[in-house]
Amino acid sequence: MARILPIKDDALEEATRLLREGHLVAFPTETVYGLGANALDAKAVAKIYAAKKRPQFNPLIVHVPNVEDVRAFVVMNARAEKIAAALWPGPLSLVLPRTPDCGLSHLVSAGLHTAAMRVPSSAPARQLLRAAGVPVAAPSANKSGMLSPTEAKHVSDAFGDNVALILDAGPCTVGLESTVLDLSTEVPTLLRAGGILLETLESVLKESIAVAGYDDTAPKSPGMLSRHYAPNTPLRINAPHAVDGEALLGFGAPVSDEWANLSPAGDLVEAAANLFRMLHELDAQNHTGIAVCPIPEEGLGRAINDRLRRAAKGEK
Ligand code: TXA
Ligand code: MG
Repeated sequence: MARILPIKDDALEEATRLLREGHLVAFPTETVYGLGANALDAKAVAKIYAAKKRPQFNPLIVHVPNVEDVRAFVVMNARAEKIAAALWPGPLSLVLPRTPDCGLSHLVSAGLHTAAMRVPSSAPARQLLRAAGVPVAAPSANKSGMLSPTEAKHVSDAFGDNVALILDAGPCTVGLESTVLDLSTEVPTLLRAGGILLETLESVLKESIAVAGYDDTAPKSPGMLSRHYAPNTPLRINAPHAVDGEALLGFGAPVSDEWANLSPAGDLVEAAANLFRMLHELDAQNHTGIAVCPIPEEGLGRAINDRLRRAAKGEK
């Protein structure tokens, strides 16, 4: 079974070490327990998707201890400044453009040019984030499609040994996920209802907010697709070889004409960690196409193939 430790100095020290070594650590926030990984470490982030068994790469929320820390990773605009001053720390996540060289793994953003940031208000969460000294990517610590966890026991029941450590601070006070507000677009858009009400956001911004036709449990809804990254270069999947002008993105034992390889060892966690970064890189190189070698349809391979299939159809 997973180890559960109350949040105290020793536990925080150990959690920090584990996060920095690329392991998963579950921790309490005021909303729900999160399944945390170092957001700068793509391979650690890939482990979140593997553990949750998410069939898609839904972008993740990045947690930091203070409002000031947010600026290192995303560009704050006037609306974000107003909302942050009024409602952070708290159960609210803001989607904003990533700063160039922010260092966040591309997998955190599922390849998008934005990142969702949150400054939780729960004291134990902020203690952990301060100790960790790295931004922590964390979805709710439940298996995909299952109930969100509001106690440490819910997390250990769901993940057992797949999480290195669970920090325990008792039941969550809000018990409902954070509100997700997209401020990267012309019109502010509510992506997910949650701990902070729409009316509260509108009264702070003094303008109305659009509500996306979006549902966390149905990421295939049109609202979700429209926010997904697809390369500009045409993508061809299940391709054993490239044709003239194409770049080949390999998987498994390298072949002679490949430009990049998601994982020469055929490791799906490593492949997930490399996927969006390599697609961005190849997309910037002006090839006539990108051919991607076959990826097995198992474990994280399902999420990788889901993303590749949608990118190949040109769905953004
Ligand atoms: O309360 C919470 O928000 C919890 C705790 C742990 O902080 N976390 C959580 O994360 O609920 P998760 O992964 O279950 O939900 C993240 C939501 C998803 O609906 C996702 O699509 C959206 O945030 N999201 C994250 N990054 C985004 C981005 N760059 N653009 C649009 N939506 C984004
Ligand atoms: Mg969730």
